[in-house]
Amino acid sequence: MTDKANEQKVNWEANVYDQSMSFVSQYGEDLVRWLQPKSGENIIDFGCGTGDLAAQIATYGSEVIGVDISPEMVERARMKYPTLRFECADGMQWRSEQSYDAVFSNAALHWMKDPESAISSMIRGLRPGGRLVVEFGGYRNVATIIEAVQETMHRNGRDEAFVMPWYFPTIGEYAKLLEVYGMEVRSANLFERPTRLENGEEGMKGWLEMFGTAMFPQASESEVRQWMSEAVENLKQTPLYDNGLWTADYWRLRVVAVKR
Ligand code: BEZ
Repeated sequence: MTDKANEQKVNWEANVYDQSMSFVSQYGEDLVRWLQPKSGENIIDFGCGTGDLAAQIATYGSEVIGVDISPEMVERARMKYPTLRFECADGMQWRSEQSYDAVFSNAALHWMKDPESAISSMIRGLRPGGRLVVEFGGYRNVATIIEAVQETMHRNGRDEAFVMPWYFPTIGEYAKLLEVYGMEVRSANLFERPTRLENGEEGMKGWLEMFGTAMFPQASESEVRQWMSEAVENLKQTPLYDNGLWTADYWRLRVVAVKR
């Protein structure tokens, strides 16, 4: 999921996402266990992508609404799970018509550069005592990749074209914000999750093509192509590349909180 300003720069091709980024929902299954959905509960999947985790939550007998900003993702989610409800909306502006028991979010909140708006959207309809269970990129996330891209742009004399499109907070920063918005933080963990990219030798190129373009929204197509291939070469000198296989240096921030 992404914010409006970056939406056009991210290639949210839903079928490519499902094929090459399936690790996103696979890792998310663990977060569903943290959520502990119960039969009859109303639950929001905030930044639901193509709906796999919403569908998983629904298997517990919960009523799920998936929300995502990308029309392509929502369309695919509706096609895959026609009995579930999905809404297309910007998470930083979304308002619920009804109250709910829990809000869940996997790998989406780092796209929302205004975290206060995202938190406000998520918890407005949450009933007192309701829970928030979220995981997203935390402090240090994909730092090696970002550094390689910045270095490439520097070498090309285009430092100014770099835009940091993501929000990767520390535990302290995010917990504090949640408290300001009336949440009681029950647990918060920042942990390393080196993530093997799919498609072998092409893995980093695929990752950059899907997500990395958000880092240079003003660049021309030929610049983007050139910088991405230079960044991939750069990254081959780092521990992220090993014998034709790529790993992304993911760091996750996982938070469980309850509304006062
Ligand atoms: C992440 O899941 O950590 C992530 C995904 C896309 C871009 C940046 C980070």
